[in-house]
Amino acid sequence: MIIIKRPRRLRKNPAIRSLVAENNLTTADLIYPMFVVFGENKREKIPSMPEVFRFSLDNLLLEIKEVVELGILAIALFPIIEDEKKSLDGSEAFNENGLMQTSIRAVKAQYPDLLIISDVALDPFTTHGQDGITSETSENNGYVLNDITTEVLVKQALSHAQAGADIVAPSDMMDGRIGAIRNILEENGFINTNILAYAAKYASNYYGPFRDAVGSSSNLGSADKNTYQMDFKNSDEALKEVKMDLEEGADVVMVKPGISYLDIVYRVKQEFKAPTFVYQVSGEYAMLKLGAKAGIIDERKVVLETMLSFKRAGSDAILTYYAKEIAGWIS
Ligand code: PBG
Repeated sequence: MIIIKRPRRLRKNPAIRSLVAENNLTTADLIYPMFVVFGENKREKIPSMPEVFRFSLDNLLLEIKEVVELGILAIALFPIIEDEKKSLDGSEAFNENGLMQTSIRAVKAQYPDLLIISDVALDPFTTHGQDGITSETSENNGYVLNDITTEVLVKQALSHAQAGADIVAPSDMMDGRIGAIRNILEENGFINTNILAYAAKYASNYYGPFRDAVGSSSNLGSADKNTYQMDFKNSDEALKEVKMDLEEGADVVMVKPGISYLDIVYRVKQEFKAPTFVYQVSGEYAMLKLGAKAGIIDERKVVLETMLSFKRAGSDAILTYYAKEIAGWIS
């Protein structure tokens, strides 16, 4: 039988498959989210996120040593704030001697080349666990107020830049916050501080373990974030959000979560050709971890396949709680 076109010729052995591979994963694609908690000598387990820890700053610095040695270029830092520092107005968020600001300074002093992506949002700082300041009037009770929140986010972002953050990352989904943050950074001379916009962040049910990690789930209770995070029924809307954030001065846009949103990653990359990151969120991580622990999936193979799907869809880098493990596997 004569068949002229045989695609299997390009799959006949690992060498030829590698030569024609359209996408690859390297440690330069990985961003490691890390949690910092007040105190000393702490390494607290997060029950819903096996092998992820909340570190006090001293231990965070030790952990980062390993992260850097593995070749990881960037971390995304999230704080866990003590209850007594939480408030309705989230003002601890821009305390220049707050946990986040202190940690950024300390990490930068010890690892100047490691990129720090700082989380800009109020949920770790509010008593109700929402990402912004809420209305307390009876007819609008609990509604997250946009412009008042943005005023606080701007101060928070500036305080992170002043502490030395390379990239500020608003994860809150308020309207107009990218432009407002870009303005204040420019006004204060932080012309090279990058903004990573959580541009298409969905009101997802995959964030549960993260909310346990930062302690916002109990504060949030049965409330949701549907008035500011995006409805997962929509995809054109993601393009609108991304376009606005780029026009307002975002350097990089992000889609979140990851695995159920590859169509969004693909559309965003195709449409704007801008630097695009994806966040494999806590629920995605937990499912893979627990599936692996139960012996149901081959962890390494399934995780690497998932990462390649993010690359194939068009993401330039991936925030993943697996970053450290992956870096060990692929080095
Ligand atoms: C909130 C924030 C969330 C995550 C990152 N920043 C959760 C939320 O929107 O409630 C989720 C990350 C994850 O699930 O891994 N600003």
